[in-house]
Amino acid sequence: MKVLVIGGGGREHALAWKLGASPKVNTVFVAPGNGGTAADPKLTNIAITDHAALADFAQAEKVALTVVGPEAPLAGGVVDVFRARGLRVFGPTRAAAQLESSKAYAKAFMQRHKIPTAAFATFTDAALAHAHVDAEVGASGAPIVIKADGLAAGKGVVVAMSPAQAHEAIDWMLDAGDNPLGVQHNAGQARVVIEEFLEGEEASFIVLCDGKNVLSLATSQDHKRLLDDDQGPNTGGMGAYSPAPVVTPNVHAKVMHEIIHPTIAGMAKDGIPYTGFLYAGLMIDASGQPRTVEFNCRLGDPETQPILMRLKSDLFEVLMHATSGVNEGTLDRVELEWDRRVALGVVMAASGYPLQPRRGDAITGLPADADDAMVFHAGTAPTPAGPVTAGGRVLCVTALGDSVKLAQQRAYDLLRGIHFDGAQFRRDIGHRAIKR
Ligand code: AMP
Ligand code: GLY
Repeated sequence: MKVLVIGGGGREHALAWKLGASPKVNTVFVAPGNGGTAADPKLTNIAITDHAALADFAQAEKVALTVVGPEAPLAGGVVDVFRARGLRVFGPTRAAAQLESSKAYAKAFMQRHKIPTAAFATFTDAALAHAHVDAEVGASGAPIVIKADGLAAGKGVVVAMSPAQAHEAIDWMLDAGDNPLGVQHNAGQARVVIEEFLEGEEASFIVLCDGKNVLSLATSQDHKRLLDDDQGPNTGGMGAYSPAPVVTPNVHAKVMHEIIHPTIAGMAKDGIPYTGFLYAGLMIDASGQPRTVEFNCRLGDPETQPILMRLKSDLFEVLMHATSGVNEGTLDRVELEWDRRVALGVVMAASGYPLQPRRGDAITGLPADADDAMVFHAGTAPTPAGPVTAGGRVLCVTALGDSVKLAQQRAYDLLRGIHFDGAQFRRDIGHRAIKR
């Protein structure tokens, strides 16, 4: 069978690699793919991004299943286009993808369905937003969180440690005429969500949903800040590992009971059945109470890379169950099998990431794929002379090990052999799990 994966990042390389490992799959098309998917003989890059043209391609090639990786095509309605043609596709519709594409929608949804999250208020008017910050933190000086409403590639959130930082963030997000963050505004104008700061440890909790049945993936933890010790600006993620020890069996049960099931049921009740991957970004406090920091309507990047290295089940078969009917599948018949080892991935990012990543640096020293180690490509492009950097996050060096420490050692050993000018990477991926 033929499969199509939409996207071209590290998550999509991992998805295509795992789908291609199924004995039932002979070709995986990746649109547009990257230098890593170009180099794998089972994968074929195609240079199509337009949704109708992708559906034409899937029809012409008799693609059995399409899997959508990133948020932008989902928020743009690619699943709706495929479904209208009767094509089998795994992902949320445009309406369901609002859980990620609009922070204002997601917060109102959580409030309506009593899903634990930070207290918040939404503003379009800068003066009211500034007054709200003064009222909330003027005296205490406590941190407060300012979020642009609209997709911003992970850059639309400021955790303000002082009122001055909060006021500055509001001015950028609401008043800056030239939209320097490139936020895709919902409702035709800039909006901000101002949130209570949550204390605790973060984890990524990702499930598959067929509209009705839910299956949780292994837990993971991402490292969002650019620099060691969680310093520097927020990024899309500089590394991840799975499982996340902070998600104890007790926390897992709470997340399913208080967050995941009410979300899936709430979407169905609101007339927008949820299909696809659903990612709850959690903050877990010292007492083990989870709260939702954000929803994503897709797999995490780089969380997918370590998660899929641990998945022993045939992902193609699982996703065929998830799409056996529209808004109703047979995921209840599936049990996922996981490698007991820890997987850990370290992102190597381009010089200048996250603001202005440099492109065109030659990448050398890439190791061969192994059963316990893979270098997933993200922002790379193939050239006759070998891959070059072509985006912010370039590679995710991912390894399995019997402990976090051993997986970490193996990943960093591999990473030290890989070179491109200006490479940036953290040296402490997995540090929280090692300290536990
Ligand atoms: P988001 O895009 O909403 O996931 O936010 C990006 C990052 O900002 C999160 O991964 C957290 O590290 C941090 N963050 C967002 N909201 C909060 C909050 N209410 N309290 C504490 N940290 C937050
Ligand atoms: N790594 C965080 C995300 O995919 O949103």
